[in-house]
Amino acid sequence: MLNFGRARTQPRSTRSMPFGGMDFADPKKKSSFVGKIILVAVLTVSCIFLLKGSTGFNSPSPFSHHEDGVMHVLVTGGAGYIGSHASLRLLKDSYRVTIVDNLSRGNLGAVKVLQALFPEPGRLQFIYADLGDAKSVNKIFSENAFDAVMHFAAVAYVGESTLDPLKYYHNITSNTLVVLEAMAAHGVKTLIYSSTCATYGEPEKMPITEGTPQAPINPYGKAKKMAEDIILDFSKKSDMAIMILRYFNVIGSDPEGRLGEAPRPELREHGRISGACFDAARSIIPGLKVRGIDYDTPDGTCIRDYIDVTDLVDAHVKALEKAQPKKVGIYNVGTGRGRSVKEFVEACKKATGVEIKVDYLPRRPGDYAKVYSDPSKIRQELNWTAQHTDLKESLETAWRWQKSHRDGY
Ligand SMILES: NC(=O)c1ccc[n+]([C@@H]2O[C@H](COP(=O)([O-])OP(=O)(O)OC[C@H]3O[C@@H](n4cnc5c(N)ncnc54)[C@H](O)[C@@H]3O)[C@@H](O)[C@H]2O)c1
Repeated sequence: MLNFGRARTQPRSTRSMPFGGMDFADPKKKSSFVGKIILVAVLTVSCIFLLKGSTGFNSPSPFSHHEDGVMHVLVTGGAGYIGSHASLRLLKDSYRVTIVDNLSRGNLGAVKVLQALFPEPGRLQFIYADLGDAKSVNKIFSENAFDAVMHFAAVAYVGESTLDPLKYYHNITSNTLVVLEAMAAHGVKTLIYSSTCATYGEPEKMPITEGTPQAPINPYGKAKKMAEDIILDFSKKSDMAIMILRYFNVIGSDPEGRLGEAPRPELREHGRISGACFDAARSIIPGLKVRGIDYDTPDGTCIRDYIDVTDLVDAHVKALEKAQPKKVGIYNVGTGRGRSVKEFVEACKKATGVEIKVDYLPRRPGDYAKVYSDPSKIRQELNWTAQHTDLKESLETAWRWQKSHRDGY
């Protein structure tokens, strides 16, 4: 080890003192000063040689250059629920992954799990950044050689979006513009965009196809549709390969129990049905409140299409593989089968083994009776179909993780 501490060669009182801009030091002292300069110069040069010889100085970061046969994917929002599962799948499939997340909603714990699973250099890096900061985003794109972007990062609660719409337009619409501009400026040619069935609003006809008119009814759905529109307009004059995936209700977690869904406690009130079921099963909340039992459905409760996160990330990988320059693919990602809230609650009771208390309340304004997808387009064009369609099994998997992570990651 080199010691860079400075040796004091003479007592303080004998050091030369500048006087009137001139140095009256004696020649002996001058030669010791020159000696010191030479020593520092020799040490500096040796350090440069040592550093040059060590790994990482000469060779730029593996993330900063394209490598034949290795596809480098930027996963925005990769510390979040779906983004972390997608990162895990990409890493398992030998993709190089950069996660960019501001941790406003995601978990550093999820990133740490991924880092522990894939510690080799050049596999995974995490960059803490806010996509609203165009300067930082541009810096990230200029320092990294991405081949594709999976843009998951977003605030994503319908209820919250009605309370704070500007946050949603900013975070979803405006940030997507920032990402798209950076991609265009830095020649990144493939985008897989996380959209939602909320962009369809309340269609009269079920199931929902990709041709069903989009008429979103809340700021979340509207912000996502605006982002889609920006992407589509841009695509007309670009050779980018674009896939827009409109997810239905996402449930489940990694079957091997490494990752799960861990939203911030303060977001519980806006949360999704599976989170509420698990919270009720763990007595964090006293029970479940099911709103509306007089809908025009077989058991009177709302019907939704629940897609397992493992299937969802599989759809992303298939979309990435099939993305073609100058083409836009838009796909519903759902099972094609609607399940009622009552069915869901029964499956949750079985999965958790807890007799969850359920209160049936009047309808909540803005909820629609039935929403489920027609997934034939994605089956035909991307050869994708949902495999994990047993609600109880998906919930059992998620429950195992929840039980062993009572406080999240
Ligand atoms: N979960 C669902 O049921 C569902 C359904 C349809 C669509 N989606 C979409 O899927 C995507 C992922 O959703 P999720 O459920 O994993 O949500 P999530 O909240 O778990 O993950 C979102 C991640 O994005 C990050 N993020 C948010 N704003 C950011 C910003 N400005 N800069 C950097 N990072 C930021 C958060 O910190 C978080 O890690 C979202 O685009 C959402 O709209 C989700």
